[in-house]
Formats: sequence, structure tokens, C-alpha cells
Amino acid sequence: MSEKNLESMEIVDVDMGKRSFRVRRTAYTSPEIFELEKKRIFDKVWLYIGHGSELKKNGDFRTRRLAGRDLIFVRDKNGEVAVFYNSCTHRGARIYREPSGNARNIVCPYHGWVFNTEGKLLSLKNETGFGEKLNDDGHLDLIRVARLEQYRNFYFINFNPKAISLHDYLAGARDVIDAICDQAETEQIILPGEQSYTVRANYKYLAENSYDGYHVTATHASYLDFLRDSAKGTPAEAKFDEVMRNYATQGQVRSLGNGHAVLESFVPSGRAVAQWTPAMGAKFKEPIEAKKRSLVERFGPERADYIAETQKNLVIFPNLVINDIMAITVRYIEPESQNFLRVNSWALGPAEENEELRAARLDGYVSFLGPAGFGSPDDIEMLELCQQGLEHTAGEWNEMSKGAFTDGDARTLVGGPQDEVQLRAYWTQWDRIMRGLDTLEE
Ligand code: FES
Repeated sequence: MSEKNLESMEIVDVDMGKRSFRVRRTAYTSPEIFELEKKRIFDKVWLYIGHGSELKKNGDFRTRRLAGRDLIFVRDKNGEVAVFYNSCTHRGARIYREPSGNARNIVCPYHGWVFNTEGKLLSLKNETGFGEKLNDDGHLDLIRVARLEQYRNFYFINFNPKAISLHDYLAGARDVIDAICDQAETEQIILPGEQSYTVRANYKYLAENSYDGYHVTATHASYLDFLRDSAKGTPAEAKFDEVMRNYATQGQVRSLGNGHAVLESFVPSGRAVAQWTPAMGAKFKEPIEAKKRSLVERFGPERADYIAETQKNLVIFPNLVINDIMAITVRYIEPESQNFLRVNSWALGPAEENEELRAARLDGYVSFLGPAGFGSPDDIEMLELCQQGLEHTAGEWNEMSKGAFTDGDARTLVGGPQDEVQLRAYWTQWDRIMRGLDTLEE
């Protein structure tokens, strides 16, 4: 299949008469489309590489794999964050093989060339025979990725030097990130530990799943049963039933521009910031309610309610998920092939949180969001069932019409919490970039 054929193929199909928005299934299964996505999307958009709190000291580094490239995310000797290709400029060897560490210099294991943390080549081991001016122009220094920018300590890279700023790219997602960061009185930090797992499905299926309010009561019925059982016989029981009765209508999904979107909902799962439920244990009631009072003082009641009570499932196009639900997870989805993805996932929490609240947060994190929690295994099974279904049936289209055209436009920007506004925002942007209608360049 040539690029031209791909361009002329209708991937997103909108039919106003039928109020239908659908996506051709080859977009999840075709190796040719996957190759084109790498070139047209992953080489052009901002991709999350890591959080500044992961690099506490000068010389701290993390190795990351993004869009098929091995990269070094490092805090240099001056305290600046830098990102280099994890490949020696001598003969190309991968330099760091470990996931993280701290080093004064970056030393290639093959012939021993030494670079400083700013990427400058310091020494060619046994320099005899090399010209004195060999690196006068710096071409043997470590290669930096074209762009590196951060918003509220979330660092992103872009392989396109002409890309619009990260600030502009994030568009309406900045306000949601603000609400998540403002939970902390000091700063939000990545908590120790990283979870990495793979799924036999296209990466877009996990992006879609991460803010899909429509699947919650079906896929996660056992988790909801657990929450209800925990509330049984307490004053929270009636509240739980009321919230779940209204789940389909309370909250919303919102498009945030540039393909980003958020699901804002009210599952009464309890949140270390700042919503207490009996399942969390009586000892957490007062400290969590105190946190809510502090948010009201800092931001006023309306914003405090949004920060504390509203669960936010945010997807930054195309593959960063920040779920601020019973805990906060930051998930980077690495597409390995058209039907295989890898997830790196971290918990985020306020730096000032005491040990007990931190434990409650991490309990919420592993009980639902972790790969062995109530949520993730159920989701993973659904994604793999979708991928398997696509690969052996004759059906050509995935349907994403729920709540479409409520304002006369397929891309309706706001919908109910179970509508599919966010999926249409994602796919509309995907289609525009793949067809070259949005270059995301200055
Ligand atoms: Fe790195 Fe030779 S490949 S020093």
C-alpha cells in the first residue's frame, strides 16, 4: 500500500444524516498505516519524556524509549534538563543500558569516549592518532533531540525543530494540568517506582480506553461492587448509590484542542486529595477533609471542588495519559507495532504529603490503576479482545457516534460523561495530521 493510497483512503467517515462518526479498522491493524503514523504524527508532535522531579540531583539520568528512539533524560552539571539520543557519536553504541542512575560524566562502554552531562565530548580514550581539531565544530558531541520544553515540570520533546511551542500545543489541557498540580501545596512529584507492561493491542485503543466513561459500569462492575460493599452500613452507602444512579449524566467529556480531551466524572472512589470515603479508613477522614479546607482557602470553593471532587481522565494527544482519579497516574504509551504497545506508568503525589496519606494514595493507586489492580487487568483484556476481533472479522468500521451532532457538528466539543466526544476529538486530529491539514508548525 503506497502513501498515496493511504492518503486517499477514507479513515474517518462522518455521516450527518445518520449522526454517525466511524473509524476504519485498518487504522488499528495496518503495518503501513503504523509506519506512516510514526512519520507524520510521532515525528511532529510533542511527546512526554519525564517529570522534572525524577531528576533530583545534577547528574541524575533516566533512559527512555520514545517513538522507537532510545533517549537519555538527564539533569546536567548546571541543573538544566537535557535530552540526548542514547547513542555514541563514535560508532553508534548505545551508551546507557540501565533505566536510571547518577553519573558525573557519560561514558561509552565500547571504546570509552567520555561526554559531560551537557553532551560535550571531553575525552577520546587514547587520543593518539586522532586530529587535534577533530571536534572543533562539536559534531562529535552527544546529539540533542530537536526540542525540549516543559509545562509545570512535565517535560516533552519534539523531533521537529519547527514545531509550535509546547505551551500552544497543550492548549486547553494546561488548565487541567494546573488543577492536578495545584493539589500540592509545594509541588507534585513522581513517587518512587515505575510500572512497565505490554498489551497486544494498538496504542490508540489504550488512549481511547483511558478516558472512556461509557465502559466503566460494564468493564469495572467488580470494582464498583467492591466500593459499594465498603460503604455498606455507613452514611456513605446512600451517597454511593445516588452518585452511581446519576453516573451517566453527572460530569462531562470535553475537547481541549489539538486532539486532547478530558473526562470529568464523579465515581465515589475516595481521593487522597481531597475526598474521603469509608473504604479509606476512619483515620484518614480528618486529614483529607483538612486538605479540602486548605484548597478552598487557596482557590475558592468552586475551583477547590474541581480540584478535589472531580475525577479527571486526561489524554494528551497522541499517547500521554494523566488519570487523576482515586490516585494520580502518569502513563506513557509507546507504540511498538500496529498491534503491540508498552506502557510506562508512574504515580504522582504532593511532595509534602505525610507518610499515612501517601500510603492511602498508593493503596488507591495499586488497587485500581496498577497492572494487578481492579481496573487495569479488566481494561487490558478488553483492549486485547478488541484487537483480536478486528483481526479476524470482516467488519470494516469502529463506531464512535455516542453524543455526536448534539450541536450540529460531529466534533461537538462537550458531551455527557458517557458520550464519545473525546474519541471524535482524537480521531479528528489524527485524521488532520495524517492528511497534512495540520502541520503543528510555527
Ligand atoms: Fe562509543 Fe566507540 S562507539 S566510544
